This record gives sequence, structure tokens and C-alpha cells, in this order.
Amino acid sequence: MTENEYWPEKFDVSDIEEAKRIILTPEGDASTEDRWAVETPPLVQLLRENFDITEQSILIDFGVGVGRVAKELINETGCFIVGVDISASMRTLGNIYCYSPNFMSCSVEGLSTLLSKGFRADFAYSAWTLQHSAEPKENIDLLFNALSDNGGLYILNANYSVLPVKEGWKFGTLDLKPVLEAKSARYNYPPSPDNLINESVTEQVFSGFYWK
Ligand SMILES: C[S@@+](CC[C@H](N)C(=O)[O-])C[C@H]1O[C@@H](n2cnc3c(N)ncnc32)[C@H](O)[C@@H]1O
Repeated sequence: MTENEYWPEKFDVSDIEEAKRIILTPEGDASTEDRWAVETPPLVQLLRENFDITEQSILIDFGVGVGRVAKELINETGCFIVGVDISASMRTLGNIYCYSPNFMSCSVEGLSTLLSKGFRADFAYSAWTLQHSAEPKENIDLLFNALSDNGGLYILNANYSVLPVKEGWKFGTLDLKPVLEAKSARYNYPPSPDNLINESVTEQVFSGFYWK
């Protein structure tokens, strides 16, 4: 394998602390724990303001990690969440971190299988994940297929790609907005959730709601 080859093993982690450090990297004075504590509530609030999430709702969290967002949404609303992740260790740790009968994790292939048997979700969201994917356009197709009619999808993502490679991260161009907009009946771009690490990050990300 070459130094620049896609290397998903980067997301293999051995415990929740290591997972957290990959999910929200320390930036400047802000530690992973600081970021976890200040960035999660505004994101959960934004989702709840735009999606009518109840105990009856089923959501997909694509690139769930250990369930940073899923855990809070379940606690606040009683919804059911299917956490999808490329990493088997993230999926396993997600079941521990969320520890709820309202949470299950599965692989990307597992989600495709569920869809082939008729499963659909009311809403889906994906935070800080499509930038790391080797196939973000295929992931978007999958997510739209996973939504019921009039279902909603939220994406929080960088305006560029950050692909895992053996030697670190490979940065590239990525513009997913036209792909998402072309598949949507309607869409809107609210301001990014409050408390993202700093203004310079905020300028390099997009925060969009897309409706099937
Ligand atoms: C930066 S973390 C974000 C985790 C979570 N969304 C959050 O905000 O706390 C990115 C996650 O996406 C997962 N991931 C990366 N590429 C993926 C892909 N192609 N399909 C599904 N999950 C992927 C990683 O394993 C990791 O758990």
C-alpha cells in the first residue's frame, strides 16, 4: 500500500477516550473534552429545532462515532437511532457510550441490507463524516434512499476532504452542496451550530438541511 492510499483503519480505536480524541481533535487551547462539552448541545438543539423528533421517530446517524450526538438526542426525545459507521470499534464503543435500548449500530453495508428489506428513517444526519469518506456521493445516495417520503437530512461537514492515509490525513477539494441540492425537494442553510471551535473553522464548513 502507498502512503497516500485510503486507510480506514485510522478510525480503529481501543477505548472511548481514544475514540473521542479522533472524533474531536484538540484545537489550540480547547481540549477534546472541552469541545465535546461545548459543541454537542448546540448541534443537538439545531437538530431539534428543524426536525420534529418524538418518541416515535427513527433517525440515522451516519458516521456516528461513539454516539456523541445520538446519546443526547435519545435522552432528550426518546427517539430511536441507528448509528452507522465504517469502523467496527466505533460501532462497538457506541453501544457502550449510548447504552440504550433506543440505540443500535450497524455498518454501511448493514444499512443497505436494512433498506433492501424496506427499512426507512424519518430523519438522518451526518456530522464531520462525509469529508473522511472515500465515496461521499454514494453515501449521499444511500442516505436519501434511507429516508421516508418528506424525510429530512442534515449535514455538517467541511468544504474540503480530509481522507485518512497511513501517514496522516490527505486534504483535497470537495463540494457536496450541489450533489445534495440536486437530490432535494427543498433545502436551507442555517448558521452553523454555535460554539464550533473558532471563526476560522466556521468559515470552512457548511451546515445544511435537505428534504426528500
Ligand atoms: C470525525 S468522526 C465524527 C463522529 C460523530 N459524527 C461526531 O460528530 O461525534 C468521523 C466518524 O465517521 C466514521 N467514518 C469515516 N468514514 C466513513 C464512511 N465512509 N462511512 C461511514 N462512517 C465513516 C469514522 O469511523 C468516525 O467514527
